[in-house]
Amino acid sequence: MATVQARGADVSEVQRLRAELAVVRQVPRDQARALPSAFYTSREYLEFEREALFRTQWICLGHIGAIPNVGDYFTAELVDEQLLIVRDTTATVRVLSNVCRHRGSPVATLSAGHAARFVCGYHGWTYALDGRLLAAPLIKDGEHFSKAACRLPQFASEIWQGYIFVNLDGAAPALGAALSPTEPYIRNYHPSEQQFLYEAQEVWQTNWKCLVENFMEGYHLSPLHAKTLHPVTPTGLCEKLPDGDAFTGYRANFHPQCPERGPYHPDLTLQERRSDVFYCVYPSFVVGFCPDFTLYMCIRPLTADSVAIRWGITGIADDPKSPGVESYLQFCKEFCAEDRAQLERLQRGLTSRSYVPGPLAPDHAEGTVWDIIQYMARRLGAPESAAPVASIDSRG
Ligand code: FES
Ligand SMILES: [Fe+2]
Repeated sequence: MATVQARGADVSEVQRLRAELAVVRQVPRDQARALPSAFYTSREYLEFEREALFRTQWICLGHIGAIPNVGDYFTAELVDEQLLIVRDTTATVRVLSNVCRHRGSPVATLSAGHAARFVCGYHGWTYALDGRLLAAPLIKDGEHFSKAACRLPQFASEIWQGYIFVNLDGAAPALGAALSPTEPYIRNYHPSEQQFLYEAQEVWQTNWKCLVENFMEGYHLSPLHAKTLHPVTPTGLCEKLPDGDAFTGYRANFHPQCPERGPYHPDLTLQERRSDVFYCVYPSFVVGFCPDFTLYMCIRPLTADSVAIRWGITGIADDPKSPGVESYLQFCKEFCAEDRAQLERLQRGLTSRSYVPGPLAPDHAEGTVWDIIQYMARRLGAPESAAPVASIDSRG
């Protein structure tokens, strides 16, 4: 499927892992195993993923609620691209290159702000909110340069349920259509109408896939989150939802003794009022729709063992300072701290040379992890002809 080669990578290591993924494509569900540790620790493989996934797929950068007004913007770095996410004078959200057309300096230097126009601090080149060049001091139009034709490059972007996605190479098929099968499972939450309540950025010392897989499986809810999530959504009550080419999901049903949580949208069914629904939009956006709030994480790899996270909360409560929002935020911070400590431990374990991957739990608990692994195998596995007969270690 993907034929992108990582620039400057050790091709033999990447080829070996891609051949292993080609074998994984053939493995039946009842023999599903975790991936070998090199997928989570190899610098060369991470370079390959940056080229073959993060430059070619739809990557979520954040929520539109962070830039509600004309002139609001935030900046982000994605696989060495400096991005400027801005709401222009027509209220359209654009994802621009944040690199000056003069000599390449980042134009907006804050992580977020509000501007009428963007002025590069180096020599004063000035850009409109839609990226058009407005002024280039001392430089006149001539045969080889026209200000009117000069602008910050714009990347393909799409908004899904209020989340801003970018596709750096501009060649990915439309995202909304690929996610339409999720519609029946999330429509009643009306995510696009929810209030933007909180957003933060963090760096965790773990591979980006460890975080995606962790967010998306219910197997760890009871053992790892014994005092936080287990009393609400125990592992035993989780159920897998149908997956698709671009996504996977599961439902975490509430413990029968767990009280209903609100306020919730009146359209929610009884089942939706008594469960959380989790989706992963491949490769790296994860979101949990709960009756009262939505929790999301936009995940970008930094190195093989570190990940940048932009996470936040939306909900139908309209006051971010209300006690209900504060207490949910505290709850999220509590179980996220448990996840972070676990994933940073996991990353240390994965550097061991003695680790042999183990079997995955049944669908309701870890079926989503297998879906994620199969997505990787489809997209990144070596073409059929390049695959060896068998190379995945399947010892007990
Ligand atoms: S690099 Fe931006 S004005 Fe010179
Ligand atoms: Fe967790």
